[in-house]
Amino acid sequence: MSKYFVSTALPYANGPFHLGHVRSTYLPADIFCRYHRMIGDDVLLVGATDEHGTPIAVQADKEGKKPIEIATRYHNMIKRDIESMNISMDNFARTTDPLHYKLSQDFFTYLYEHDYIYPQSEQQLYCPNCGKFLPDRYVEGICPVCGGEARGDHCENCGRALEPHELEDPHCLTCNTTPVIKDTQQYYFKLSSFQDELTEYIENNEKLTDNVRNYARNWLKDGLKDWTYTRDMDWGIPVPLDEAKGKVIYVWGEAFLGYLSSAAIWTRKNNPKWEEYWQDNAIHFIGKDIIYHHAIFWPALLKAHDCKMPDNIFAGEFLSLEGLKMSTSKNWVVWVDDFIKKYDADLLRYYLTIVAPLNKDTDFSWDDFQRRNNDELADVLGNFLHRTFTFTRKNFQNKIPEFKDPSDEDLEFLNLIKECPEKVGNLIDNMEFREGLVEIMKIVKAGNKYFNDQEPWKAIKSNEQKGANCIYLSNQLCKVLATILKPYMPSTSDKIAGIININPSDKWENGSEFLETGHEINKAKPLFKKIEDDEIAKEKEELYKNLETKEKKDDNMEHEEIMSIDDFEKVELRIGQITEAEKIKKSKKLLKLQVDLGYETKQIVSGIANEYDPEELIGRKVVVLVNLKPAKLCGEKSEGMILATENAAALLGVEDQCEIGERVM
Ligand code: 2FM
Ligand code: ZN
Repeated sequence: MSKYFVSTALPYANGPFHLGHVRSTYLPADIFCRYHRMIGDDVLLVGATDEHGTPIAVQADKEGKKPIEIATRYHNMIKRDIESMNISMDNFARTTDPLHYKLSQDFFTYLYEHDYIYPQSEQQLYCPNCGKFLPDRYVEGICPVCGGEARGDHCENCGRALEPHELEDPHCLTCNTTPVIKDTQQYYFKLSSFQDELTEYIENNEKLTDNVRNYARNWLKDGLKDWTYTRDMDWGIPVPLDEAKGKVIYVWGEAFLGYLSSAAIWTRKNNPKWEEYWQDNAIHFIGKDIIYHHAIFWPALLKAHDCKMPDNIFAGEFLSLEGLKMSTSKNWVVWVDDFIKKYDADLLRYYLTIVAPLNKDTDFSWDDFQRRNNDELADVLGNFLHRTFTFTRKNFQNKIPEFKDPSDEDLEFLNLIKECPEKVGNLIDNMEFREGLVEIMKIVKAGNKYFNDQEPWKAIKSNEQKGANCIYLSNQLCKVLATILKPYMPSTSDKIAGIININPSDKWENGSEFLETGHEINKAKPLFKKIEDDEIAKEKEELYKNLETKEKKDDNMEHEEIMSIDDFEKVELRIGQITEAEKIKKSKKLLKLQVDLGYETKQIVSGIANEYDPEELIGRKVVVLVNLKPAKLCGEKSEGMILATENAAALLGVEDQCEIGERVM
């Protein structure tokens, strides 16, 4: 028996769960853990909500609430969603738990005392309007690598981890102001000193999956840079140093410790020590967007703390929706809670597993979901189970018949049944979850074929034993299915066990034990039903409506920037004629003009000296903004503005027949 410490990446507590979370991380972790528990391993599966950092603070700002209120709301929702998906989590904690604070601060102190953390001043973006530094997601701009839209910590487009000051054209997320650069002191983690150890870890850890190794190599080849471990922010875990008042530990500097604090909380409630699990096998399930953090930062932090590095990191790739990238802000998303209100969790577990191996990006589409439910679950699996059970009831009084004088086909099918649990188990153990499920579906298909070929409905009339053997073996496969489906579809597995009249399967080896002749099964109920076209049409309509609503909202937002005619009327534009023009000594750009408006002459300072000589302007008619607040430019009074293009500073042409003083509308 081995012990396993398994963790699921901590979701930010700024929104509920969607299908992407389930597919990349939670479902594979659950399949793995359920299987290992069934083969007798001692498994600890932990998770938590990630409740600090800018994702929560920004959401709180948006809603005018405190970050902890946001975190509590979404922690509860996420916990509910995890339970509704039947994820067999042993403990699901919060990074705002006092024990997590203590662990994170102690960890920081240890690294600081061992010289792995050092203070250094650096330049950070600062919003002069909001009066605060703009860490991570508080700033948005253009990615210096790919030119896509990026946040201060990460490019949405190319997935690159970024520092806020690397962004091009940065602006404050809160007020859109262009930030300035300001000095601040932060604490750095000496990531660079782990280059060799990490290279060794990545290259020589045979268990690591290819996608993780390849991503990590890319980072290592550029050479690792030290890493800012703190932030100037109010929301977070305070840096445990007297001289660092007002600074918090960077969310990524403590989130990993959420795995350990969640386990420590579990240990406090249950006796076994979580450390024993970590020592035996430590496995992280994550999404591919955070490979960098888990394959580089986290092992280095552990090494610095003299702890064992993870044995494996398993990164699920992305899930798109109806062919488009999922986006919570655009509402292009299917929330677990909405899904689960209409469909059984097992249908989703089946779909998200069978649709593609985890190391490939894939898509959720409502049509494909319907097709797989109807053609695979209802027509293949459901059909096999139901026809076996109903035939047993009608023809064998619900009892398992005797198996005798098997034919070659019987023996061949018997072999398939016997071999199946081991095959599926090995695939799951190897993290090939899809292949394991494909193997199950293959044997169910073989079961349907065997049933058809044996024609028990005819056999029981002419060759009773042939029919009995068929029903005997078909029931044995149903029993095996109750076991091997359990990691994938736990509630379906329990329902099958209920019909077969055995205890819910919790041991893999029981899967190979056959039902005895004479064992009585219960009345069957259909386990899967077909999903009708109109149901799917409704789902799609809902989804696309979300997108349209968002687009409309965006349109309206744009329209808010468009002014009404009343607004325009406030802008008083009139035709004027330049009567005098002269250069301003102190400026290369400015000219001082006297402009006749008919009813008065205004002095206007205009930035057109590079484009126009004063002499050529005399007598020229121009458009003047007359009701502009007077200002002083280079010590000269300016009482209006002459309209010119922004970059070329070219004056607008005015036809001769326009009268001086006439209003422009
Ligand atoms: O990217 C994210 O959603 C992070 N909240 C993941 C943290 S995983 C771990 F380090 F805790
Ligand atoms: Zn601002």
